[in-house]
This record gives sequence, C-alpha cells and structure tokens, in this order.
Amino acid sequence: MNDKNIEQELIPVMTTEHNLTCYEEAYYNFKWEDIEKEFSWSRTGKVNAAYEALDRHVDEGLGDKLALLFSDETREESYTFAEMKTLTNKFGNVLRSLGITKGDRVFIFMPRSPELYTAFIGSIKIGAIVGPLFEAFMETAVKDRLLDSEAIAIVTTPKLKERIPLAELPALKHVIVVGEKGQLGERELSFEILMEEASDQLEIEWVDREDGMQLHYTSGSTGKPKGVLHVHNAMLQHFQTGKWVLDLRQDDIYWCTADPGWVTGTAYGIWAPWLNGVTTVVRGGRFSPDDWYQTIEKNRVNVWYSAPTAFRMLMAVGDDITTKFDLSSLRHVLSVGEPLNAEVVRWGLKVYRKRIHDTWWMTETGAQMICNYPSMPIKPGSMGKPFPGIYAAIVDDQGNELPPYTMGNLALRTPWPSMMRRIWNNPNKYDEYFRLEPWYISGDSAYKDEDGYFWFQGRVDDVINTSGERVGPFEVESKLVEHPAVAEAGVIGKPDPLRGEIIKAFIALREGYQPSEQLIEEIKNFVKRGMAAHAAPREIEFRDKLPKTRSGKIMRRVLKAWELGLPTGDLSTMED
Ligand code: WT7
Repeated sequence: MNDKNIEQELIPVMTTEHNLTCYEEAYYNFKWEDIEKEFSWSRTGKVNAAYEALDRHVDEGLGDKLALLFSDETREESYTFAEMKTLTNKFGNVLRSLGITKGDRVFIFMPRSPELYTAFIGSIKIGAIVGPLFEAFMETAVKDRLLDSEAIAIVTTPKLKERIPLAELPALKHVIVVGEKGQLGERELSFEILMEEASDQLEIEWVDREDGMQLHYTSGSTGKPKGVLHVHNAMLQHFQTGKWVLDLRQDDIYWCTADPGWVTGTAYGIWAPWLNGVTTVVRGGRFSPDDWYQTIEKNRVNVWYSAPTAFRMLMAVGDDITTKFDLSSLRHVLSVGEPLNAEVVRWGLKVYRKRIHDTWWMTETGAQMICNYPSMPIKPGSMGKPFPGIYAAIVDDQGNELPPYTMGNLALRTPWPSMMRRIWNNPNKYDEYFRLEPWYISGDSAYKDEDGYFWFQGRVDDVINTSGERVGPFEVESKLVEHPAVAEAGVIGKPDPLRGEIIKAFIALREGYQPSEQLIEEIKNFVKRGMAAHAAPREIEFRDKLPKTRSGKIMRRVLKAWELGLPTGDLSTMED
C-alpha cells in the first residue's frame, strides 16, 4: 500500500458506527451537567465511584457479566460483576474491622492480580483514599510515599513487604499480606484469613463528589514526588471519555496495558471500563511481543490502549510476527504517555489495518484531555483535539493565548471534572499549576494548527519521560549523591529511538575515586536497589566538575546542551 492510500485511511470510515458520531457537533453541544444525571448524586446528593463501577451493574441485572479477565504466568481467572461486588464488599468490611474510615490513606503495593483490584475498589467503597504503588519501587521510593501520605494500611505480598521500612513508618498500622504462607510479622495480617472472616454485606460509604478517592504520586523537576489527589467527581470524565475516546460498547473486551501503579492503570485500567460496565482484561508479567499478541488473540480484545514505547518495540520485532496471531478482533487502538511518532501511526495502519489514536493527558489532569476520536481524521504526529467540555490553548508566560503555529505553554481552562484537587501536604506546589488564572499550566510545550489540532513539542521543565514513565531528575540526583563515590550528580533525559528518552547522569567523583566500568555498574545498581529499575541511569559520564549556578544549582540545561552538541545559551548565572 502506498503512502497516499495510507493517508486516505486516516480519515474515519464513517460507515462504521461510533459512540461519538460527530466530534464538532458534540464539542459545541456538550455540558458536563448532562453527564451528571447518569450517577446517584443527581438523585441523592451523595455518590461513591466504587458503587457506580460494580454494584450498579449488578443492580441493573448485569451481575453475571464478566468484569475481569485476569491472567499471568501462574493464574488464569475470570470474575463477574457480582463476584467483584462481593469481594470488594468483603474487603471494605476488612478495613472497617481494622478501624479504617473515610479519608484514611490505604496503599496497595503489589503486582497486578485480582486481589489488587479487590483491594482498590474495596477501599474506595468505605471512603478511604487509595494510593497505588508500582511494584518496581524499592525502599526509598516506598518510604517517601508512605511517609508523606501518612498511610495507615498497606496491601502487599510476602516478597514486596521486605521493602517497607516499618521502623521508619510509625503511622503505618497494618500490613495486609496477600498469599503469606509463613509466619506473620509485626503489624502483619493475612489477607486470606481476613477475607474469609469478613461479611459480604457492606453498607457503602456515601460520600460527597468532592471527597478524595485516589492519590497518585508523580515526579516534578524539583523536590520529592508529589501526591496528586483525585476525587470521586473524576468519574464523570472517566465514564464519558470511556464512551467517546475508547469507544467502549456493551459487548467489548477491553485491554489497557498499564499497571495501576500509574494513573493510566486506574483511570483507564479500572474506572473507564467498569463505569461503562465493560469487560476488562488484565495481563500480569512482563512485556513480550508474543505474549501481548497472544493476549489479544486469546481474549478476542476489541479495544486496546497502550503506549508508544510498546508500539515501537512491537514495530522493532518486525511485521511478520503479527501474521502468526489472529488480531482480527481489534476494532480500536489507542496510545498515551509520550509522543506517538507519525511513523508508528503509519505502521499501525499497515500491519494492524487500524488507526492508532493518540491521547494526551497527565496524572494531574486525571483523565484524557486532548485526543484523536474515532469520528475525526487523524493527522499522524498530532495529539488530536480537546475533549468536549474541555478548552485547551497555547499561552505565553503571562497567560495570553497565542495564535496557531506559535509554540508556547500547553494550558487548560479550569476546572474540569477529573482535575486534581490537591497536592498532598504541598499547597504551594498545587498553586503553581494555577498561577496564570484561569489556566492550568501543564508543563508541556506545544502548538496548535489552523484546524485546532495540538502538536506536542517537549517539556518546559527538566522532567524525564522514559518509556512513558515520568522520572524527576532531582530524585535520581539525590539518590546518586548518597553513593560514597559521588560528589555531585546532574541528570537529564537523552533522546532515544525506542524509549523516547533514557536517563543519563553526569557525575563528579569524590577525592580518591577513579572512573571505571565497574564503578558505573555499581552506581547504576545502587539507584536500582534504592529507587526503581526504571529510575536508574542507563548512561553515566564522569566529569571533573558540573556546571552550576552561583547558588549551587546544577544547570541541567547546560548538561543537555553538552549531550546534544548544542550551544549552551546564556551562562551569566553560572559560577566561575
Ligand atoms: C506527561 C504526563 C496520564 C498519561 C500517562 C502519563 C507526556 C502524555 C502524551 C502524548 C506526548 C505525552 C507529557 C505529559 N505525555 N501523553 N500523547 N504525547 N506526550 O502521565 O506520568 O503524569 O506524564 O507525559 O509530557 O506532561 P504522567
């Protein structure tokens, strides 16, 4: 197929039925108030997202419908909406029996499993705020988050509990361990025993739509990770984007490949499908092309939401592998997390015969904001257009809107339903995002074209995006300088064809240490063991001195210019 034909196919096939039949019409007629009518608060003034995601479907006669199709290397299980309702009721009672109530922080630190989903929704049923932690986090990362949020309980596994430094976490009263076969230690409880004893009848905690629901920690360019709080009201946007962006339909089998440790894995791994009563696939274990295509084939996946790094890896193994699998069930394919290269979109069209729909949003926005919709033409390389009810713009540093084709700050007019409501313990950080009223400033730079499509250009700050995972350079630098050999460290994102960016560290060694391959490996492992594998630098370069401002701040901008062989720009603030 030549390129001309491919471009033709990026225009929607209007003979196909879409939930959103005409984007323009929806955009101009849309009101969030109309969506509110879907949920209980329009009748009772109170709500609980967990009820709307599970119990509601049981009440409406869909109890026997499959909610979750789970598999990993050792298990293969499926659960109906009625079964998930029962399990989450039980878990809600477990927490209540421990004295946990509305607003308490309950963390979940475990690999994907039915128990993870049970604990997640069960906690929200009793009004607790859930903090999901990615299983790859090591001790420092776990401790920072549990301390900051003053978590009272954590659900984890025998292996991962080793990374929870109890002695330093006095507020953490309960460690609920899933699958413990040995002795229970200090503060530990057995998930299975508690669940066995718990009643399956639960009085749901009816909350205000503005009450907290989940806390996702994410990175900025300075300081420790920030706890981004979302409230029950976010469900409006999870529900409606599930309909119009994911194009979910009643009989769909939907697969979001993200882990619930990241916001995509909750907003679109749990809420969007379940609020819409749609069956969701969860596949544990690591990425491998065969495994992923098999997951699609075996489950007859219709809607598939993944990330550019994954698509690039699938592209890298060649097109032939796709012919080994039956991927004909796929109807709609989407991507999020980092720039989706135009090349990948064209490749998707060629091998899957499907358009890959890019979507843009961030932990702080809580749900999709700028997207490619099934009912509109795709311009490969563009993130698409704002969701109905959302106004996005490009603004300068004073908050003035800029004309088409001018690069500037990607901004969103406040508020919207899934907008974060707080940065835990850090009101100043929160206010920074909203400093240019009425805008929310995303930290991304972009431009808009004459048709209203947005084009991503980069980050305004030093935040690194490696394989779609957001890493703060400051956290990595802080960890690096804990190593005895490291005097100073500066960390940047280096462009990489597969991962988008990789983490590169520039390091000045202490007196008495010599650069060596062995030292490089040791330092990399030090970060891996302390923080997480994805946060460890893939490249380390030793320098005698690092560029710093007179106040002693490492100038990452200069490091980046060194790396890319670009001019270093204004150095007037640099120390001598
Ligand atoms: C940052 C947010 C919530 C989605 C998962 C990542 C980058 C996200 C795109 C896209 C280019 C993107 C931005 C954003 N990003 N989507 N479609 N094209 N860049 O959430 O970890 O909070 O990261 O990811 O830079 O600010 P996150």
